[in-house]
Amino acid sequence: MICFITYLFQINILSYFEIWIPRFCYHGKYSSSVNCRMCLVEIKGSLKPLIACCILFNKNMIIYTNINLVTISVEFQLLCLTMYNIYNILK
Ligand code: FES
Repeated sequence: MICFITYLFQINILSYFEIWIPRFCYHGKYSSSVNCRMCLVEIKGSLKPLIACCILFNKNMIIYTNINLVTISVEFQLLCLTMYNIYNILK
């Protein structure tokens, strides 16, 4: 069981415990493309938010999903994606 959990991404573990993280480009059946940056989480001790869909879970990790830094980062990323799409439409 420990080996099974060790090779899962953080987003899989959080989904298993019904902790929902926003995601656009991640699908469990395909490899992660890591394009949208919507699945940001903070790991205790990290200096910046990290991407949950490409970082393997470690049993010693403490993951924060709803603190201010993560919320602001996700909102900023969503704003950037929106601006990029608007730019492409108007171009
Ligand atoms: S879901 Fe897109 S980068 Fe993680």
